[in-house]
Amino acid sequence: MRFYLTTPIYYVNSTPHIGHAYTTAIGDMIVRHHKLRGEETFFLTGVDEHATKVWRVAQEQGLDAQEYADQIAVQWRELPVRLNAEIDFFIRTSDEGHKRFVRDFLQRMYDNGDIYEDVYAGLYCVGCEAFKTEAELTPDGLCPDHLVPPEWIEEKNYFFRLSAYQDRLLALYAERPDFVRPAFRFNEARSFIEGGLQDFSISRAGQPWGIPLPWDEGQVAYVWADALVNYLSALTYAREGEDLRDTFWPVAHHLLAKDILRFHCVFWPAMLLSAGYEPPQQLFVHGYLLLDDKKISKSSGNIIEPLQLIDIYGADAVRFWIARAVSFGQDGSASVDGVRERYDTELANDLGNLLSRTTAMISQYRGGTIKRVQFEPPVDFDALREDVAARFDVFDVTGALEAIWQAVRRLNQYVGAEAPWQLAKDEQHADRLDAVLYNLVDGLTALAVALSPFLPETAPKILAALCQPAELTWDRVRNGTAIDVDGIEAAPPLFPRIELPTAAA
Ligand code: MSP
Repeated sequence: MRFYLTTPIYYVNSTPHIGHAYTTAIGDMIVRHHKLRGEETFFLTGVDEHATKVWRVAQEQGLDAQEYADQIAVQWRELPVRLNAEIDFFIRTSDEGHKRFVRDFLQRMYDNGDIYEDVYAGLYCVGCEAFKTEAELTPDGLCPDHLVPPEWIEEKNYFFRLSAYQDRLLALYAERPDFVRPAFRFNEARSFIEGGLQDFSISRAGQPWGIPLPWDEGQVAYVWADALVNYLSALTYAREGEDLRDTFWPVAHHLLAKDILRFHCVFWPAMLLSAGYEPPQQLFVHGYLLLDDKKISKSSGNIIEPLQLIDIYGADAVRFWIARAVSFGQDGSASVDGVRERYDTELANDLGNLLSRTTAMISQYRGGTIKRVQFEPPVDFDALREDVAARFDVFDVTGALEAIWQAVRRLNQYVGAEAPWQLAKDEQHADRLDAVLYNLVDGLTALAVALSPFLPETAPKILAALCQPAELTWDRVRNGTAIDVDGIEAAPPLFPRIELPTAAA
């Protein structure tokens, strides 16, 4: 089994915000889960550099565009690192390997007769990096997303014959009802195709920043015609001397938010067909994470510096909040206070205390030893294993974590109901106490493994505190895998109390 996951490549006109961290963190949870299941995985993220808005920011700063991109790319590279996202490659569209591949890709479309020259005269929103029709604007003539008037562009461009792909796209959607998830996004994309497709410009004449077209060096590739190709180009040069297309195309899964649905669900598969490639396996279109009901973006001024949250609470807590704050797929409102609330009540209390109590009791009542005597597990981990995997298969990341968290709560109830501190008072209950302590260790072991995609720093700490093997494999999410050990000591808090920096933060 092979699983290839991509995030959008982000524009480098500004620094990362929590919305970008959102997609990258969720992507990492999904990939880590598939890795646990023993699949061969590849996780790609990176940056989109050849945008007009990037070029303009560089100009404002008096920098050469490449110099500007090189500087800001450093901060973007840090995003997956700080989120503890285990990426396999970080692509930059200014990579030589990417540029070479894009030229080849566009040439293939050209050779296939799908590209022609025409004059583009129309409106362009630099915020969206997209052409706009009057009908797409607000009554005042503004871009509804950026609330600025689009610019008039009139230039000789090369166009991609997207209109010629309507039938093939409809056939693709008819054959593959799970091509786009969730279903309402599938329907949205299909209706757009049914509504009739317009050819679109794939080049820009008035801008020097970009990849020159192989058949006309006077024009550069339109930023989307360059950027989308990253999902394929990366596979050709990410590993020197290897062509990963054989392994990971077309088993690609693209994660993106609804803002860029058309580019991914309509334009990209058509471009692939034109260049002679198979469309990806699946696209998952998620909603917006709204902070206090506003979309996070530079223009609305409510940017939260994700790295700052990580500095305070750690990557695991931020990842946990991201997975839980809103139901993945839907739009949802979240507040940054939620990070702290979940840290205190769920991570520190529900999970952290469960481990502290369990290890303290084993140390105190059994000198650090557990052994398996009786076996009446309080949680059915076979059912959980299947439930969580099924949810990940449909990208229900929030549901998967909630199912696991119910098991955390169930174990806490079990401690309360069994009251080991009472059992410990009476030698007659010695076997019962052994069984309860074993079940807690066994349950926490299975939970640590199941939680590892969400909490990659915490999971190994739990296994270590319980003296259980460190290995992370999905078949450990079952009952009765904990081995008899001695040497368990009262564990330090998994999520210690955090003193918040003063008001300014
Ligand atoms: N460069 C293009 C993508 C090219 S992919 C071939 C682009 N870049 S972007 O920087 O604007 O990133 C958009 C993506 O960032 C969204 O699709 C989503 O993955 C993520 N998000 C940005 N803000 C977000 C939220 N507020 N909520 C959820 N996701 C967010 O578009």
